[in-house]
Amino acid sequence: MDEIVNLDKTYILPFYSRFGVGFYKGKGAYLYGYDGRKYLDFTSGIGVLNFGHSHPAITREIKKQASKLVTTSNLFYSEERVKLAKKIIDITFDGGVFLSNSGAEANEAAIKIARFFGKTISKDKYKILSLTGSFHGRTLATITATGQKKYQKNLEPLPEGFDYVEYNNVEDLERKVDENVCAIFLEAIQGEGGIRPLSDEFVAKVKELKKKYNFLIVFDEVQTGVGRTGKYFGYMNFDIEPDMVTLAKAIGGGLPVGATVLRREYFNVCEPGMHASTMGGNQLASAVALKVLELLSDDILKHVNKMGELIMNELETLKSKYDFIKEIRGKGLMIGVDLDSRVEVIGVVKKLMGRGILTLRAGENVLRLLPPFVITEKEIDIFIRNLTEVFSSM
Ligand SMILES: Cc1ncc(COP(=O)(O)O)c(C=O)c1O
Repeated sequence: MDEIVNLDKTYILPFYSRFGVGFYKGKGAYLYGYDGRKYLDFTSGIGVLNFGHSHPAITREIKKQASKLVTTSNLFYSEERVKLAKKIIDITFDGGVFLSNSGAEANEAAIKIARFFGKTISKDKYKILSLTGSFHGRTLATITATGQKKYQKNLEPLPEGFDYVEYNNVEDLERKVDENVCAIFLEAIQGEGGIRPLSDEFVAKVKELKKKYNFLIVFDEVQTGVGRTGKYFGYMNFDIEPDMVTLAKAIGGGLPVGATVLRREYFNVCEPGMHASTMGGNQLASAVALKVLELLSDDILKHVNKMGELIMNELETLKSKYDFIKEIRGKGLMIGVDLDSRVEVIGVVKKLMGRGILTLRAGENVLRLLPPFVITEKEIDIFIRNLTEVFSSM
């Protein structure tokens, strides 16, 4: 482990501060560390391994496709690519898909498509709205769409034509929307922002204003998609039909995959040459992503909801015991425990790690839980028992 740490510090650019552990193997809800310990994983690679580590069907598909054909570029037709695109459309809405390799890329494509759409109406219709506390990626455009100043430090000048609506503030939304807005980006539940769900009232106002100002409603489902919130996609928790949806993380089953889904009526804004990605939609990634989506079923979602409710109920009980817990939020297996300033969330994450349980932080001071869908009642029990002991020691 010491050698790995030294090599990391020497040869990896210091953009990350890491915890002092690393893993050589994963199986289901567990990771196996270089330190010889077994860890219960409530992070799923930050919402990536929804079906757990080394899922047999996904591993089999990776091996099968890798030994057949990995990539041929987008210059040629591919059965794997069209099958994946059709499957995505079957479970979202009628339209088409642009395939890429990450969430940032999926959102970058969505920003460009929104601008293309705006230009079909007027040269000034290019403004992109997003919400405060949102997170949409780390490219220059997606970090500009990200409504959190801390990520934009020292990057100025940022691209023009972006503005931010205060999260769930209907009056601010009304103030910021005008005829020059080409799109609004939303997360059904803000992930990095601290597990903050959209309100029904806010979503209803977005729908109402779209009728008047004709902009695209874009749901960034990079973290909320692929069953995470107990529905196939996060937007399905609301009474709304998006014009665009962006996917990444879990759809690749651990491989880098991004997807931008656009409703069919907007096909005309996309023309050959306007956007591209060398690796996007490659055969290996596409075959594996298709397998991931085939694994997603009503039965799996039932389990996600059942396990999610179990965790939320247990957390509510803890909330009644510990007054430093401000709120329990989330849906399905995307859950946040909002703590007040008396308890630092990083301390909780570290203490749980010391007990062999991996969790995440988000937002200001929120403990974020993204366990894999293979999680069982027994493992939830282990988690709650340890969290209770950690909280009682704080
Ligand atoms: C909602 C959301 N959008 C976009 C991204 C960026 O995805 P990626 O890291 O794959 O570029 C993230 C990453 O956390 C995310 O949570």
